[in-house]
Amino acid sequence: MSDFVRVCSVSDVPPDSAIAVEVDDRELAIVHSDGNFYAIEDECSHAAIPLSEGDVEGAEIECYLHGSRFDLRTGRPLSLPATEPVPVYRCRVEGDDVLVDVSEPLDPEQSDIEELQES
Ligand code: FES
Repeated sequence: MSDFVRVCSVSDVPPDSAIAVEVDDRELAIVHSDGNFYAIEDECSHAAIPLSEGDVEGAEIECYLHGSRFDLRTGRPLSLPATEPVPVYRCRVEGDDVLVDVSEPLDPEQSDIEELQES
């Protein structure tokens, strides 16, 4: 069962950037890139570093500390030193609202763009 909640406005997240939000005691990075919005847990899987402070490029975000890049669609690491995925959540836009389904993270092995982008 989905459980979408409003996390921010579209205008809160400039293109090619991320912001940190807190939803149900979860720290999330809301990312805006190439017209798409993504929700990924705001903590690198290598160490407790907020991914929301990293660089955004396409469907990837780069941890600023050691440079691991993560696929925003699946949470999977694309480069070392991180080796574990970061949880990602369904995200969609309704009007000026960005909504995230925080009921459960997506399975990194089965995630695909259709599941994540329901806008
Ligand atoms: S803390 Fe993110 S790559 Fe090391």
